[in-house]
Amino acid sequence: MVPETKLSPEQHQKLSRIVYKESGIVLNEKKYNLLVARLAKRMRIKKISRVSDYIRLISTSPDEFIEFIDATTTNHTYFFRENKHCEFIIKTMDNTKPLKIWSAASSSGEEPFSIAVQLLSNLFSFTIYATDISGSVLRQCQKAIYPKERVKNVPLSILHTYFQKGTGKWQDHVKVKSKVQQNITFEKFNLLSDTPVETFDIIFCRNVMIYFDTPTRQKVVNSLGRALKSGGYFFVGLSENLHGLEHNLSLVLPSGYKKK
Ligand SMILES: C[S@@+](CC[C@H](N)C(=O)[O-])C[C@H]1O[C@@H](n2cnc3c(N)ncnc32)[C@H](O)[C@@H]1O
Repeated sequence: MVPETKLSPEQHQKLSRIVYKESGIVLNEKKYNLLVARLAKRMRIKKISRVSDYIRLISTSPDEFIEFIDATTTNHTYFFRENKHCEFIIKTMDNTKPLKIWSAASSSGEEPFSIAVQLLSNLFSFTIYATDISGSVLRQCQKAIYPKERVKNVPLSILHTYFQKGTGKWQDHVKVKSKVQQNITFEKFNLLSDTPVETFDIIFCRNVMIYFDTPTRQKVVNSLGRALKSGGYFFVGLSENLHGLEHNLSLVLPSGYKKK
């Protein structure tokens, strides 16, 4: 079945409003093709050919509503991405004190696992709370299995110590060892509507606020700022910053902030 791929201006507006209200992700005219591609995928899975029928489905089925929001997220990530932030932690933090870290918008787990293997190899004790809005990426985190090309930036010594090579049909994959997994809790968390109940020494919120507009970024920074301990660190993606937002954080390295 080939789904209808053109949206009327009203349909585009309706769908992008639904996404914005739920996740904060802005899918304006510039993101029209992306929205259509993600929508078409869900319509094929549900064997629906008319956009109007799909819109009706997401307004009556909470399960499909969740799948639709999930489909509109961009989950691109890889091991040791923007690793300067983790190197900074290892260089400046005391490894005799346990660290509480939050990887907010962890996608499929590469970010929290990269942090964990480096902290383990530098003898830190720590816990990582890794969260995302997308249930499908969190399921990948739980499996902890990745195609080999995703670990091409991981130093060999770390790869040998903390990853298991796949065999047979898994020979092109690696699995993160359980001694790494046991330091991490994965949970669904919507940055827009869920409230953090704990406080953290370090929060990573990288490469997600680029999908938000200024009011949403401000809301997220307020909420995560409250969840950060005094003197704690807050990292955004290297192409992101907190310009134009109110906060009580000082820039201490590129895209890295410290709470006063
Ligand atoms: C591009 S990935 C970033 C992954 C990782 N932090 C990195 O820098 O490589 C962005 C993630 O943000 C998540 N996301 C988008 N909107 C969100 C929201 N409102 N609450 C929580 N996570 C959200 C997406 O599901 C996606 O997995």
